[in-house]
Amino acid sequence: MNFKDYIRVIPDFPQPGIRFKDITTLTNNGEVYRAAIESLRQAVADKGIDLIAGPEARGFIVGAPLAIALGVGFVPIRKSGKLPGEVVEASYDLEYGKDKLAIHKDAIKPGQRVLIADDLLATGGTIATTINLIRQLGGEVVGSAFLIELSYLDGRNKLEGIDTFSLVTY
Ligand code: PRP
Repeated sequence: MNFKDYIRVIPDFPQPGIRFKDITTLTNNGEVYRAAIESLRQAVADKGIDLIAGPEARGFIVGAPLAIALGVGFVPIRKSGKLPGEVVEASYDLEYGKDKLAIHKDAIKPGQRVLIADDLLATGGTIATTINLIRQLGGEVVGSAFLIELSYLDGRNKLEGIDTFSLVTY
């Protein structure tokens, strides 16, 4: 299946010069969405994963079904101020803008093997921050999986040798 055919590219969103990769045209199609998640599952199935962590919001669209497909739990990485329990937080730069991410302190036990899932690897700032949060809790980041990688933004450089799989590359 050519997943790229189902990703809509919208020019100048959310600001001039950004070509936004819209996954809603992929997830609208049940067969294609399922096949995309299944491809990610196959790519990471041998990693001995205990938990999937996915950053808000589009990381939930990829991470939660992947966790169910693997039969493991899902940990939401949320923007600051959203999680009700005790959190650790870290700030980060986006392709456009700046934000702060948080994780519940008790979401990951030391030594648990965590795979990060998201829709998009762009500059890698979101994932670098997610790695930082998981490691603060003593989790081991065993890999990362994305629907889309924007290779021209070189996000892989920030992944410090973490095994990274992406379904579609621009
Ligand atoms: C987008 C995307 C990734 C991140 C990738 O999320 O879903 O999480 O940016 O960019 P980076 O590699 O440069 O960090 P965004 O922060 O726009 O939030 P959203 O999922 O809530 O739309």
